[in-house]
Amino acid sequence: MAALEAAFVAMNGGGRACAVSSGTAALLLALHGLGVKAGMTVAVPSYSCSALLNAVNMAGARPVPVDVRPDDFTVDPASVERLAPDAVAVIAVHTFGATAQVAALKSSGRLVIEDCCQSLGGRQGLVGDASVYSFYATKIITGGQGGLVWSQAAEVAEAARDYREFDCRETYVPRFNFQMTDIQAAMIESQFVRLDEIRSRRRTIRSRYLAVMRALTGAGWRLQAGLDEATHLPYRFILVAPDSNARDAMKERLERDNVASIVPIERYELLHRYLNADSRHYPVSEMLADRALSIPLYPGLSDDEVDSVCEVLGRAA
Ligand SMILES: Cc1ncc(COP(=O)(O)O)c(C=O)c1O
Repeated sequence: MAALEAAFVAMNGGGRACAVSSGTAALLLALHGLGVKAGMTVAVPSYSCSALLNAVNMAGARPVPVDVRPDDFTVDPASVERLAPDAVAVIAVHTFGATAQVAALKSSGRLVIEDCCQSLGGRQGLVGDASVYSFYATKIITGGQGGLVWSQAAEVAEAARDYREFDCRETYVPRFNFQMTDIQAAMIESQFVRLDEIRSRRRTIRSRYLAVMRALTGAGWRLQAGLDEATHLPYRFILVAPDSNARDAMKERLERDNVASIVPIERYELLHRYLNADSRHYPVSEMLADRALSIPLYPGLSDDEVDSVCEVLGRAA
C-alpha cells in the first residue's frame, strides 16, 4: 500500500497520499481532513454519482445539488452561486475525463475536492484542496474496490490516515476501518505503471469514433467537450442525441448489432431527484439524463471490435 501511495505522490509531484477501501471512503476522508462537518453545506453536481450524497451525509454535512455545464458536463460555478451560496465546499467531478472549473470554484473562497474517480491519468487533481480516486471494477484502473485521497496539504492526508484505522491507538477518537488491502494495492500498482499506455489506447479508440461521428454531428448529435488535449484520458465516449427518442432509437439500433451502450446516468439517479429538489433548477442535468448515450470505450476492445462499432455508427449516420 505504501508503494501505491508513493506512486501517486510521484505522479502529482509531491503532497501526501492515503489509500483506502473505496472512492466513497476517500470522499468522506477528504471532507473530514478539510474540516467539513455538521451544519456545513457542500455543493455537489446533480449529474454525478450518489456516492457524493452518501459521503457528505456521512460527514454530517448537508449536500446541495447544483447543475452542470452543457458542453463538458462538469459542475457549473454559476449554479453553485445560485443554488448553494452558503456552501463551504464543492465536490468537483472531472466528469468522464473532462476537467472541472476548479480555479473558478476556488476563487469564490470555497474548499474544492477534485473528484478524479473518472479521470485518473488525465493530469487533473492538482489545483483543489484535496483529490479523490476510485479503483472500483469499472474504473480506469481497478483493484475490484479501492480508493485514495491525495492532498498537497500534509494535514489533510494525515487526518485521513488517522481516521482510516483504529487498532492500537493510545487515545480514543471515533475512527473506522477504511483500509485498502495489500493484495488490492498490488493489483492497482500493476496497472498504474501502464497508465500512459491505457491513456493512449483510449485516445486512439476515441479518435476512431470521432471520425465516424462527423456525419452524425451534422444531424443534430453532439459530443462531450473538454477531452481534446492529449493529456486527457477519456473515460467514456458520450453521444448527446437531439432528443430522448433519438437516443433510445440509437440504443436499440446498436443493441440489434450487438454493440452494448448504456445511459450513463438515468433520470432517477440525478442527485436533485433523490433529494426531491425542483427539477427546473437543473435543466442541463435533466437534458443529459434524457439524451446522453455511452458507447464502449476501454483498452481491452480489440481493433476488430472498434471497427464493428464504427461500422454500426456509420450506418446509423
Ligand atoms: C464520480 C464518482 N465519485 C465517487 C465514486 C465512488 O467510488 P467507489 O465506487 O469506489 O466508492 C464514483 C463511482 O463509483 C464516481 O463515479
